[in-house]
Amino acid sequence: MIELKQVTKIYPGSSTPAVDGVTLTVPKGEVCVFIGSSGCGKTTLMRMINRLIPITSGTIRVNGQDVREMDVIQLRRHIGYVIQQIGLFPHMTVHENIATVPRLLGWSKRQIAERVDELLALVNLEPRVFRGRYPRELSGGQAQRVGVARAMAANPPVMLMDEPFGAIDPINREVLQDEFLKIQEKLRKTIIFITHDIDEAIKMGDKIALLDAGRLVQFGEPEELLTRPKNEFVKSFVGADRVLKRLNLLKARDAMMENPVHCLDTDPSGKVLDGMLEQDLNFLLVTDRNGRLRGYVNASDLRGHTGTVGDLVRPLTLTVRPDQNLKEALSKMLGYDLGILVVVDQEGKMLGVLTTRTLVSLVGETYDERGGHWGKITANGRIL
Ligand SMILES: Nc1ncnc2c1ncn2[C@@H]1O[C@H](COP(=O)(O)OP(=O)(O)O)[C@@H](O)[C@H]1O
Ligand SMILES: [Mg+2]
Repeated sequence: MIELKQVTKIYPGSSTPAVDGVTLTVPKGEVCVFIGSSGCGKTTLMRMINRLIPITSGTIRVNGQDVREMDVIQLRRHIGYVIQQIGLFPHMTVHENIATVPRLLGWSKRQIAERVDELLALVNLEPRVFRGRYPRELSGGQAQRVGVARAMAANPPVMLMDEPFGAIDPINREVLQDEFLKIQEKLRKTIIFITHDIDEAIKMGDKIALLDAGRLVQFGEPEELLTRPKNEFVKSFVGADRVLKRLNLLKARDAMMENPVHCLDTDPSGKVLDGMLEQDLNFLLVTDRNGRLRGYVNASDLRGHTGTVGDLVRPLTLTVRPDQNLKEALSKMLGYDLGILVVVDQEGKMLGVLTTRTLVSLVGETYDERGGHWGKITANGRIL
């Protein structure tokens, strides 16, 4: 566990803090992503944790111990560190680079050799091919993997990773991210991971800490930053297309309201109209007695009608299936100017409705509800 309390850094000769009163806790086994634009203080904050930079004020605890009270060598052995520019020693082979810390710890040659091969395999580099190479003989992506392997060499419970995939092209970056998540799934280390890429942060982080000018603007699960951005800064950082990304992840069944108010096609028109007037509804959904969607009726159609609602029902041709994603649903709604979309199963049974309002509350945006007013949800969904 890593606990930061009111952590502040003012570089000598500077009048403004590079890190300004940051308080947050990273629970054991979680990945916390530090994100923010260049110069916002991410690296400074990270380097105070392993004391590469002295803290100006505040406290940092790693597994309950104040880092300033720990032996600095011990502290750094406890914490794997992947630096921003990879930083492999150019005159050493891959094997020697990865072996640095285990050698310092006095491991035997055999132990070290086994560990190096194990780590190379873990980061998907064939040991026989790569252990003897020099950093200049590696691609950017391979070098970065070696950097990660080196940081993990002595199996530290805590890892600090400063833009570990920063130098890698988008395709290989995704591959590395996926490998990293697979490894983390197994090893469950406590990790602080810096990036300036919001997609990477959302993918990698159990928690995200968004920094701006040295201050912590928002700290929470990726979901929280997407759905409840604290202010305009977070909103714009997270970006408008995030809303659509999130909608892509959710299914209609996740967002639908069950038991929407409705009537049966066998209900008498007069009574249904009374109920609609009472509840101030302009439209009402209609099902048959088996719960299959028949369509909807307008209040104005029912006026003066003496038969049953089934005579007047208008079909609803646009519906969604429960496992369709919300992005498709929303584009249907906006494309056809619908205020609601009914969710039906394969047999045509009405399962619930999606309204623009529920989608809006899901994505944390505010735009006006469109279309008609469909009333509140009732216990059994029936209007009568
Ligand atoms: N050694 C230093 N001396 C003085 N100022 C520094 C030093 N390192 C970084 N800074 C300043 O501190 C701020 C935060 O830098 P840094 O932590 O590197 O940001 P990030 O990693 O988010 O890009 C910047 O304004 C930077 O110019
Ligand atoms: Mg940095």
